[in-house]
Amino acid sequence: MPLGWAIAGIGSHADLKIAPAIPRARDSRLIAVYSRDQKRADAFAATHGAQAAYDRLDTMLADSRVDAVFVASPNHLHAPQTIQAAAAGKHVLAEKPMATSVSDAAAMIDACRKHGVTLGLGFELRFHPAHLWARQLIDRGAIGRIRLAHGQWGRGNRGEPEHLPRAGLREWWETPQLIGDASVLVGLGVHVFDLMRFLLREEPVEVIAMTDGQTARQPLEHIAAISLRMSGGAIAQVMCGRMLPDTQNDLALYGSDGRIATKETIWEARLGQAELVSATQNHSESYQYDYLANFVAELDDFHDALQHNRPPAATGNDGLQAARITAAAIKSARTAQSVTINPPKD
Ligand SMILES: NC(=O)c1ccc[n+]([C@@H]2O[C@H](COP(=O)([O-])OP(=O)(O)OC[C@H]3O[C@@H](n4cnc5c(N)ncnc54)[C@H](OP(=O)(O)O)[C@@H]3O)[C@@H](O)[C@H]2O)c1
Repeated sequence: MPLGWAIAGIGSHADLKIAPAIPRARDSRLIAVYSRDQKRADAFAATHGAQAAYDRLDTMLADSRVDAVFVASPNHLHAPQTIQAAAAGKHVLAEKPMATSVSDAAAMIDACRKHGVTLGLGFELRFHPAHLWARQLIDRGAIGRIRLAHGQWGRGNRGEPEHLPRAGLREWWETPQLIGDASVLVGLGVHVFDLMRFLLREEPVEVIAMTDGQTARQPLEHIAAISLRMSGGAIAQVMCGRMLPDTQNDLALYGSDGRIATKETIWEARLGQAELVSATQNHSESYQYDYLANFVAELDDFHDALQHNRPPAATGNDGLQAARITAAAIKSARTAQSVTINPPKD
């Protein structure tokens, strides 16, 4: 039986990436979409070949053809929509950031556990082959013990004004309680936090963040630099920002015996290069541009996880850890103090 997907939140992410990726994913089909506005839902369904369009989430969740819901709504809705979908017996693949608070993220995990459904998180950087290669190299000790890591995700257009007036459907991006008290930290940085945990297989124990926001005058930041002290002793630097039109979205991992560096891999599309340099090895790989490949891989992984009763590549606990790091970064930026994080409970 093909996996029947529904999408809650049919904004630009769903339109440009998730809905087009579903037909490329193995044995999957887009059954239904939900918008607050029936006309928008109908138009989206017509564009992307969805079989049904709903203006009520509960009605969509009652559609027996829907097996899994991709939650791509504004951040403050990830928790209530996930909890509602879980109660209706649907599996959930939720977009990042998992929620606008650590307690909401934990409630999502509890709800999915209680109702016996699978919860995954949309951390597509885990599916870039450069990052998978880097992880394998680290695991087999190719660069020794990692001491320093850098990762950056920025974006921007030349001449972009500092304050982008976002009206209408995009206004939530500028509203602290709807986006989660941070802007680029939850938009971009959270992906790199997850990537550091994924590659190093370590948890951050201390966070220091400097941003140009998190003040009464400017609650939402445009630029953030975050240092994570990892449990094994490595220091991971995460940079993120908007208004950076010429940003280099690269990754570097420096170990006791060599380095792994990637170029242009920290972005939603698959592209870029990766290299391994050590005393005994010098090897590089490059990746053909494919805008959707990382999302197709994410959907395929989720489907495979359901079929084989295993956790997806990025779980609710991974989303929760990213939420804890984000909360620590916000606190650190506000107080100009370092913030410690206790290890996860399981
Ligand atoms: N993994 C990634 O790389 C990636 C990339 C981009 C975005 N995302 C995530 O995907 C999610 C959606 O992002 P997006 O850029 O697609 O969002 P968006 O286009 O700004 O909005 C999504 C939809 O939310 C609804 N909406 C807007 N304001 C609302 C409000 N105040 N209350 C309730 N609903 C509202 C609107 O749909 P209706 O009015 O039709 O209901 C809108 O079309 C976010 O969580 C974002 O972080 C992830």
